[in-house]
Amino acid sequence: MNLSGRSFIVMNDFSENELREVLKLSQELKNELKNNKSRKYLEGRTLAMIFEKPSTRTRVSFETGMFQLGGHALYLSASDLQLGRGETIEDTAKVLSGYVDCIMARTFKHDTAAKLAEFATVPVINGLSDLEHPCQILADLLTIYEEKRDFKGLKIAYIGDGNNVAHSLMIGCAKLGMNVSVASPKGYAPDQKITAVAHQEAENHGGILEITTDPEKAAHQADILYTDVWVSMGQDKEQEERLKVFKPYQINKALLSKAKNDSIVLHCLPAHRGLEITGEVMDGERSRIFQQAENRLHTQKALLCSLIKNVSMLWEPSLKS
Ligand code: CP
Ligand code: NVA
Repeated sequence: MNLSGRSFIVMNDFSENELREVLKLSQELKNELKNNKSRKYLEGRTLAMIFEKPSTRTRVSFETGMFQLGGHALYLSASDLQLGRGETIEDTAKVLSGYVDCIMARTFKHDTAAKLAEFATVPVINGLSDLEHPCQILADLLTIYEEKRDFKGLKIAYIGDGNNVAHSLMIGCAKLGMNVSVASPKGYAPDQKITAVAHQEAENHGGILEITTDPEKAAHQADILYTDVWVSMGQDKEQEERLKVFKPYQINKALLSKAKNDSIVLHCLPAHRGLEITGEVMDGERSRIFQQAENRLHTQKALLCSLIKNVSMLWEPSLKS
């Protein structure tokens, strides 16, 4: 199994074993960092980071990760690039490939990230598109593994908008044999094509995927409750309507009581306290939200070391399946 030279645009780009390999490496890099034993696996390597939308976690964790690994990261806002003045994605991908070892892009249209990957000769990482947010799910899975020591048979309930985060989460969790229940209001369910892929992954890995409009049904006996914002970047015009429709989909103490007693709560952040999650739950004892945010750093370092070509590392066996 070799991820070297590959891109990571959708969650389904990685097999179960490849996911486990990246998660195992994430644990090792996290341990190295915590024990002050970090090694400069990416010395002399450069990452171009294209951002069409704002970011706190993705930008800072990728940039810091590259620095810790001995490499360098370039922040490129789309409006600063010639891309913003009409240079094609194809030409941009080819030109950047001549300078850098990897490209990470946060785009509005998913097709922009996919096209970059098609024409670049270096790996391209999707740092969030309107369709998927696969890097987020690597951190989520590491957090789940740290807390539960396994994936198979766990129930994760995603409560809220059937958006980019929900899409990658459904596929990633189904791939690892988890049972996934998604509760969204009518008209805001996940994309049908993605749902079909997630169903297939669930079937292949012995899990169940449930799509419902009932948050309590989803939360029932769940091991993990997960939510994301009700209004994603680029949807500001829909804010008023969305805030009304999503009101019954808040993760609060009452909903948490439907889950298992040892359940944990995750949120990809940024959060809107009092909307999709109460401050009480977010800061409560079941929340692993800030651990999850920190894990973006460790999982993305593992991703970079895995995808960038000709990186020499000591490989360990992947997490047990
Ligand atoms: N979760 C996440 O991707 O956060 P940012 O938008 O701050 O990068
Ligand atoms: N669904 C959110 C995720 C932010 C990390 C958005 O796309 O804005």
